[in-house]
Amino acid sequence: MISAQVQLASYLFASILFILSLGGLSSQTSARRGVLYGIIGMIIAVVSTVLGQGVAGHAYIIAAIAIASVIGLLLARRVEMTSMPQLVAILHSFVGLAAVLVGFGSYIDPHTQAITGVSHSIHLAEIFIGVFIGAITFTGSIIAWGKLEGKIRSKPLLYPGRHMVNILLVIGCLVLGVFFSMATGTGGMLYLIIMTAIASFIGIMLVMAIGGADMPVVVSMLNSYSGWAAAAAGFMLGNDLLIVTGALVGSSGAILSIIMCEAMNRSFFSVIFGGFGATPTGPAKAVTGEVTAMDHSEVAALLKEAKSVVIVPGYGMAVAKAQFPIKEMVEKLESENKEVRFGIHPVAGRLPGHMNVLLAEANLPYDIVLEMEEINDDLPDTDLVLVIGANDIVNPGALDDENSPIYGMPVIEVWNAKNVIVMKRSMATGYAGVQNPLFFKSNTNMLYGDAKDSVSKINGLLH
Ligand code: TAP
Repeated sequence: MISAQVQLASYLFASILFILSLGGLSSQTSARRGVLYGIIGMIIAVVSTVLGQGVAGHAYIIAAIAIASVIGLLLARRVEMTSMPQLVAILHSFVGLAAVLVGFGSYIDPHTQAITGVSHSIHLAEIFIGVFIGAITFTGSIIAWGKLEGKIRSKPLLYPGRHMVNILLVIGCLVLGVFFSMATGTGGMLYLIIMTAIASFIGIMLVMAIGGADMPVVVSMLNSYSGWAAAAAGFMLGNDLLIVTGALVGSSGAILSIIMCEAMNRSFFSVIFGGFGATPTGPAKAVTGEVTAMDHSEVAALLKEAKSVVIVPGYGMAVAKAQFPIKEMVEKLESENKEVRFGIHPVAGRLPGHMNVLLAEANLPYDIVLEMEEINDDLPDTDLVLVIGANDIVNPGALDDENSPIYGMPVIEVWNAKNVIVMKRSMATGYAGVQNPLFFKSNTNMLYGDAKDSVSKINGLLH
């Protein structure tokens, strides 16, 4: 057992480590250190909570932690990098569920019943709000998981008057909250249960209304919700560290969501309320031109001629694990004094920073990895762009087809380069399910096949 003072000091120390962790994660060079701070902070947080005053049943707690750690380790080791967003979404659902369970537990706890006056009212409000946010996070995250996993259709489920229905449901929850706060003992249980059901329904409908192209923002928004749910649980349990940690996750998730909305040129509110003005009003623009393809030796010949090359990786690079032969290709080209750079779209792949992590895994230097805005201006002076397993992020329709579901999203304007090679396996669409007019442009050629295979074959032809 540790004293309350020691526990408070440990909580303060853990909070500082969490802040340092978030700071570290903001740059690739310090990311590892950031993760380490986070791990140490979490160990201190858990140990000082379990050893705190008034905690009983240590054997059960240790057994639960051990079992959960094994499950977590196995899951995290087994999950493919490309399935990371699904894992994150399902983990958010656990935080939501935990907030709901803590809320119910706290309500039936005899200590809660013993509180009187204003403190009692405040505690009931904490329970009600915590369960409300927790239930929305729980079901919303499960739907997000289903959409990302392809188990639920990614098309937005929109019906007339849904905003009005949502507003009425929230008003209904407020009314239930008033009855709940007036009930004595555990007499408000029925109101709490009905509100949980309504909030769960709101969570489902909110995420069902969001289209596939906006899912990245939804994942980061649910991350934010899970933080607020954890903070609410912290209030219910009177645990300062949980409040601080929840607020850190809640606010950093909200900031990330706003940054991603800006990157995709979407209004934050249109994304969170689903489909506001995002529904196309007519058929997509007819695509003109012809699709032409090249073989590996023709692409190798283009590479030998080019002085400046830009590589634009996407989700397909992650699937194929092509980053390693790409590194070899970059070395070969640089040894010929060619300028080789990467252009990274903020939502390339399936999670923020996905491409940066993979390129770092292959030890590619950071200084040749540029952001979309940095590379776009240089593309007209670029001899050759290799689009490797990317699709939506290089779709010109996002700029010139008002009926495209991704209209308005800034893209990497690869077609401005002299030549473009698109490496993918077929003419299949990407995540947003839209045709890509880039493939039909006269300066663009397809190189069909698995990205890793294609890059390795080209490497064999470069001397
Ligand atoms: P996508 O538009 O999804 O296109 C990826 C392409 O890779 C596919 O068209 C596919 O074509 C190709 N591909 C798959 N496996 C391949 C392999 N083994 N070898 C070669 N090519 C392969 O990817 P993107 O351009 O990176 O755009 C990302 C999309 O995901 C955006 O719509 C974005 O909104 C969405 N999204 C992003 C995130 C975040 S946060 N980044 C999260 C969720 C969703 P083939 O089948 O023909 O090979």
